[in-house]
Amino acid sequence: MTTVNETIEYNEQLSQYIRNLFVVEDETLQQIRERPSKEGLPPHDINPEEGRFLQLLVRASNAKSAVEFGTLVGYSSIWIARGLAPEGKLFTFEKEPMCADIAKDNFAKANVAHQIELLCGDAHALVDSIAAQGPFDFVFIDAEKTGYIDYFEWALENTRPGGFIVAHNVFLHRTILDADTTDEGVKAMQMFHKHVATSNRVMSTVFPAGDGTLVAVTA
Ligand SMILES: C[S@@+](CC[C@H](N)C(=O)[O-])C[C@H]1O[C@@H](n2cnc3c(N)ncnc32)[C@H](O)[C@@H]1O
Repeated sequence: MTTVNETIEYNEQLSQYIRNLFVVEDETLQQIRERPSKEGLPPHDINPEEGRFLQLLVRASNAKSAVEFGTLVGYSSIWIARGLAPEGKLFTFEKEPMCADIAKDNFAKANVAHQIELLCGDAHALVDSIAAQGPFDFVFIDAEKTGYIDYFEWALENTRPGGFIVAHNVFLHRTILDADTTDEGVKAMQMFHKHVATSNRVMSTVFPAGDGTLVAVTA
């Protein structure tokens, strides 16, 4: 018998149920997401319901300007761009030139190329070049885990009051629960959680679908 407070484990079945009802993934997005597994590579992009969640947050905040750290081949960028106001713009950072080239092709296929500027190189070195175009309404962090605190701090300085700062993979496939970890990426993510949760400059929580999405609203 189930009890009122029973915790339901979010699983593939529930994920698929949500996808079928709420997540409108067109052919372009589907092809981008399915490409790595067809080529025998692990998927590193967000999952469809996380994409829909980002799009919803972008729309809910009436965002006209957004920043993304970690483009890969543009799956999440397309979801974000499609949530922006028609005149809105997304700046996205990717250090790997090969990924950046594929992403640009994908932006054209998804009809969002006019809304996205991709900056290729180390985001830490490049990010101040866009600061003058802020303050931004929405920032999405999905690059190297050891950089999350720096990206968050940059976002705090460059996001408007009431803007969103969102970070992906914050469960790190459940390794986040390992208090004795020696893995630098996991330790960095645990520090990031404490950093955001104790910040008095944001209200924050974690959306527990997929690999965990941290959401913070700036004061
Ligand atoms: C998890 S993938 C991003 C997935 C993408 N957001 C999506 O869901 O479609 C992380 C990406 O961040 C890029 N990256 C890592 N460190 C970076 C840095 N310092 N500057 C720019 N890009 C970086 C990697 O090359 C990789 O493509």
